Amino acid sequence: MKLVVTGCAGFIGSAFVRTTLELNAASRIVNLDKLTYAGNLENLASVAQDPRYRFVQGDIADAAVVEALLAEEKPDAIVHFAAESHVDRSIHAPTPVFETNLRGTFTLLEAARAAKLARFVHVSTDEVYGSIDAPHEADESYPLKASSPYSASKAGSDLLALSYFTTYKLPVLVTRASNNYGPFQFPEKLIPLMISNALDGRDLPIYGDGQQVRDWLYVDDHCAGIRAVLNQGQAGEVYNIGGNCSLPNLEVVRRILKATGQPDSLMKTVTDRPGHDRRYALTSEKLEKETGWSPQMDFDRGLALTVDWYRDNREWVERVRSGEYRRFYDVNYAQR
Ligand code: NAD
Ligand code: DAU
Repeated sequence: MKLVVTGCAGFIGSAFVRTTLELNAASRIVNLDKLTYAGNLENLASVAQDPRYRFVQGDIADAAVVEALLAEEKPDAIVHFAAESHVDRSIHAPTPVFETNLRGTFTLLEAARAAKLARFVHVSTDEVYGSIDAPHEADESYPLKASSPYSASKAGSDLLALSYFTTYKLPVLVTRASNNYGPFQFPEKLIPLMISNALDGRDLPIYGDGQQVRDWLYVDDHCAGIRAVLNQGQAGEVYNIGGNCSLPNLEVVRRILKATGQPDSLMKTVTDRPGHDRRYALTSEKLEKETGWSPQMDFDRGLALTVDWYRDNREWVERVRSGEYRRFYDVNYAQR
């Protein structure tokens, strides 16, 4: 399969490129990425010389760039990862969230429609279901109830993508995954932030009471789920991809402190995130039944691998933490 993938200089997209090429599961991958603060070509250094891989710097909201790329590459499918992906940033600065997640997705869908593309996988999130009371969990028909500008933009782009199937018969598939973790994740998200701060002996900022629950999915399991949807999913359908691992944030942070050998006293309670969703929970039964996929990584093993990676890649962390990251850290944490 010849793929155009968007946003693969980021965390999950780069893992998708590395693992897909390693498994020989695509004959060519063209990565269209704008290189925002979250895009880092270092994440793709291991495949940069691979003749099956090409990088194109560009904005998914730029119709001319997208149309020219599809005309030149004639891919079998688009896998669409590119997004502004951080909830806190979406609260401080929603404009790029709208531009990329909504306008960018619209631009890609329009170009895909014109090019009569055979498959379009839109990578989305369980955040679109909003906070879910225990013991319920969302299946794919659960109502959408987005809380942040980020989750609202993802819910909107999911609906837009599905409308292209209903109206234009563009073979769109939507995936909704839970919280990912693993190597190369930008240290603004819970797990990499807490690991990198713990390794430096810095404070670990816990929003509110820390009892919010997330389902944790190892990034390579997510990528395998996306490949299962790409190859075996039904057009026009939505597929949840979860890790079967629900934990309160405080428990995750305690395990990080244990894995890094740091004391619990590093944990500091700070002002809660506005509109903070209390609990995410989903079932991936549909994907498991239709494709045979299931998450393989045990959380403690995945966390140990991730801690080791951050310990061994301090220079990567230092480089991404310089410049823009410091400004964001001040904006997000100084007032809390
Ligand atoms: P990320 O922030 O690490 O990477 C995003 C990438 O998109 C970056 O390389 C960035 O340069 C690129 N990008 C941003 N705007 C762009 C634009 N206008 N044009 C081209 N490229 C652009 O994100 P991630 O965590 O890897 O998430 C990837 C996708 O998976 C997103 O769609 C996100 O909503 C979804 N998702 C993430 C998680 C998670 O836990 N991180 C869970 C479920 C779903
Ligand atoms: O559920 C999937 C979603 O998971 C993805 O769609 C998003 O792209 C991804 O960012 C993630 O969203 P969350 O808001 O759940 O992830 P985050 O890592 O920002 O926060 C996880 C939990 O940890 C949440 O309850 C907020 C809390 N938290 C986070 C940070 C950054 C803290 O307590 N302190 C922090 O400093």
